[in-house]
Amino acid sequence: MADAERCPVENIATDYDIFDPDYIKDPVPAWTEIREGQCPIAHTERWGGSWLPTRYEDVQDLAKMVPELSSANPGPIVVNVPEEFRRPEREGHNGAAPISADPPEQTWTRKALLPHFTPKAIAPQRTYSETLCHELIDGFIDNGGCDGAVNYAQQIPPRVIAHKLGVDESMVDEFIIWVRNVLELGLTQPELRLKYGDMIHGFFAVEVAKRRQNPKDDLITALCTTEVDGQMLPDHVIVGMCNLQLVAGIDTTWSSIGSALWHFATHEEDRRRMAATDHNDPLWDSAIEELLRAYSPVTMARTVMEPVEINGASLQVGDKVLMNFPGANHDPEVFENPDQVILDRQRNRHIAFGSGIHRCAGSNLARMEMEVALKTWFARIPEFTLANPDEVTWAGGQVRGPRIMAINFG
Ligand code: HEM
Repeated sequence: MADAERCPVENIATDYDIFDPDYIKDPVPAWTEIREGQCPIAHTERWGGSWLPTRYEDVQDLAKMVPELSSANPGPIVVNVPEEFRRPEREGHNGAAPISADPPEQTWTRKALLPHFTPKAIAPQRTYSETLCHELIDGFIDNGGCDGAVNYAQQIPPRVIAHKLGVDESMVDEFIIWVRNVLELGLTQPELRLKYGDMIHGFFAVEVAKRRQNPKDDLITALCTTEVDGQMLPDHVIVGMCNLQLVAGIDTTWSSIGSALWHFATHEEDRRRMAATDHNDPLWDSAIEELLRAYSPVTMARTVMEPVEINGASLQVGDKVLMNFPGANHDPEVFENPDQVILDRQRNRHIAFGSGIHRCAGSNLARMEMEVALKTWFARIPEFTLANPDEVTWAGGQVRGPRIMAINFG
């Protein structure tokens, strides 16, 4: 990839850098500056070039622009990947539907997935998550501290999604490596993205073939027997959907759980308030929504297929647009005191899970994992602080959240 990337940002409206360490650590000041400036939709040439909307209304409008904006060409990731590293071009089909597809493929793949993520359909994962969270805490509670990102947040979503898909949970460490190389390190090193993407596809191709021979009671088997509009799902589509669930289900939720722990470790009043709150109190629901809003982890992207004029920006065919759901969630026109975490915020129409046809299919699962992870943690570790605040590291770009975060208990 071209590397004009590391020179200092001179003008945020024309030269923002989503991989700038300051932006990754705290992107809110950059969004505010852009939103309040002359061009609330900023542009950069970095990382292959992109547009960055910062107003809620603009992000909502852009999310509705189908087919003017595409998720399939060349995919919804936030950097422009050179053609030789792009999966659809290589394989001739979509590798992560529905997220990297446009209608009609997006419509029928989404339809096949949604019934498996209703509150009822994820009930077995709730029981599983409760046991898992206790076991994880059992493993470190007597040490007086842990890494809240590595030992807790990161351990939960890979196991939960492995449980749902019906794949070997003892492979979790590998899943974590694969997904980090696709969604985190692979963004700036496209050869890693492709290599680890190939591993995930290869793994699920074998799993799908096994289910054809020996059906089990799991999601992969369910997808193997799913008919949409009278047609069975082809194997390569199922492989792509499983790939997406592993990738979309892991980094995102571990980032949200990690950011929530970071918030409570650094905000004593909020921590004490939640520790004193009964688990049936509605404050838990509003707090989880507020944490999702304030620390929204996921930025997606679209490619312009037809010229679009929006709020002073002229988007041309082939341009990349970052779907800045996190920035939209800090727009003061929609959220009062947007940069403050208000645990009992009442009006909270956040779009952390996206908006429009691609809105997150796994939001029930994600919310449940956050709820169980936080309630279990608070029940057993009501008092905690960061051990080394300056040594916390964050990942960013496509999915933002803490990656190293030492915590002291008591
Ligand atoms: C806190 C955790 C999560 C957040 C913030 C999140 C966020 C998002 C966002 C913003 C989108 C929209 C993508 C776009 O517009 O291009 C999306 C789509 C999607 N998410 Fe999530 N997600 C989370 C967890 C999960 C989980 C646990 C799963 C389960 C497998 C999941 C599965 C999906 C799928 C399948 C789509 C694609 C839907 C479509 O294209 O029709 N997500 N997610």
